[in-house]
Amino acid sequence: MSEARILDGKALAASVRVKLAGQVVELKAKHGISPGIAVLLVGEDPASQVYVRAKGKAAAEVGFHAVERRLPATAREREVLQVVDDFNNDPKIHGFLVQLPLPKQVDPQRVIDAIDPSKDADGFHVVNAGLGAQGRGGVAPATPRGVLELIKLARSDLGGLEAVVIGRSISVGRPTAQLLIGENCTVTIAHSRTRKLADVARRADILVAAVGRAEMVRGDWIKPGAIVIDVGITRGADNKLVGDVAFDEAKQIAGAITPVPGGVGPMTIACLLQNTFALCKNLHGIVG
Ligand code: GUN
Repeated sequence: MSEARILDGKALAASVRVKLAGQVVELKAKHGISPGIAVLLVGEDPASQVYVRAKGKAAAEVGFHAVERRLPATAREREVLQVVDDFNNDPKIHGFLVQLPLPKQVDPQRVIDAIDPSKDADGFHVVNAGLGAQGRGGVAPATPRGVLELIKLARSDLGGLEAVVIGRSISVGRPTAQLLIGENCTVTIAHSRTRKLADVARRADILVAAVGRAEMVRGDWIKPGAIVIDVGITRGADNKLVGDVAFDEAKQIAGAITPVPGGVGPMTIACLLQNTFALCKNLHGIVG
């Protein structure tokens, strides 16, 4: 069998941003509004710094008003909540997020609960999660949206397919499963306590790996021809970025597969911008 098609997230994200930049120009021309996004970074986590910089750069490139706030790693929870309150009340900010993880003295749940759901760019607030769980829209988290777009590059109609999502996080595993249910897939959520994980994975026409364990998914876990989406990104011993899937093995078996880096990561940022654009229109009562 021939090698898998590589699903190029970098190229897809670039085309999403080009389209969005056009929509931003149109919104400004018709309504005099520039979408505003804000990011709060607490502390100096190196990976978070890289992500926050990438988000700010992408936002500015598509013509958003982009704000970055920083607090030291020693910040108290009430200082973080104060910034959230500032963003909630700032009419120039239409969507924002607090970069995770947070220092241990700050409870992420309390922080997320304080975000106005109508400005929740990440879609992590319980109101948006609840709307998503009931298939009633709301803001879907950016990474799952990106995952779905990448799957649809490989195949547009997903109805009736077996999907296995490895990982049950609030940010990725669960909302990805919800989106796939919305596409009429039969969905299994597997996790660290799942028995015979390799056998479960081998059932999948669509396999999404979101566990954060380097190259855990081996080639023989994959059904021939499957669509494989790798959400993981960890730095190996040789400082190389690797995903949750053993790529070189998997690409011999899969029908389509995302690379790491250059797969899901760029799509997460593009979808975050799309979320913020949609929130901006909602907040201004603009339809269509
Ligand atoms: N840290 C890693 N990914 C994310 C994300 O998508 N949103 C936030 N807020 N923090 C993150």
